[in-house]
Amino acid sequence: MVENKTKELWPELDWIESKELRDKVEKTWELAFSKSDLTAEDLYNIPFTLLVEDCQVTFMDHKRAVVHIAYESAKKMKEFLGKELEIDLDVVVAGAILMDVGKLLEYEKDGDSIKFSKSGQLLRHAFTGVSLAQQCDVPDEVCHLIAVHSKEGDVFQRTTEGYIIHHADFMSYQPFKNKA
Ligand SMILES: [Fe+2]
Repeated sequence: MVENKTKELWPELDWIESKELRDKVEKTWELAFSKSDLTAEDLYNIPFTLLVEDCQVTFMDHKRAVVHIAYESAKKMKEFLGKELEIDLDVVVAGAILMDVGKLLEYEKDGDSIKFSKSGQLLRHAFTGVSLAQQCDVPDEVCHLIAVHSKEGDVFQRTTEGYIIHHADFMSYQPFKNKA
């Protein structure tokens, strides 16, 4: 996997209708790879989190599951609650694809495994994810989702799209955490 690794990783990019936004999301992932010692191939093998011991779920399986859950939830909310709530599906998908891009800086290889990098011990991926996205001119509505998808967002007012992303992430994380 050399050419266009981001598109191969994320077929869900096609769900973003705005080509401009799609390109910025792709650019952000490319920038993250350029600063990380993790490769696209690694993401099919490494665990999705270091906070669950012996986690067997891979990074890509978890991240793509969250994108699918967020997208389907957003569409249902639009269908039933759309008269009262504005929901931007492009923002939801872009935010879901980008929310953990900072993990490419948070983790580094440790033999066959991964560990927290020096950067990751100081800056969680929500912060570095926003930094990467801003360098690629990703709009604030999407950067907001990266910033509030995780526990850091608990002290901030989330947008509707922010709630969707946060819950999609935690409903597919917390059960693993509780099992441990
Ligand atoms: Fe995260």
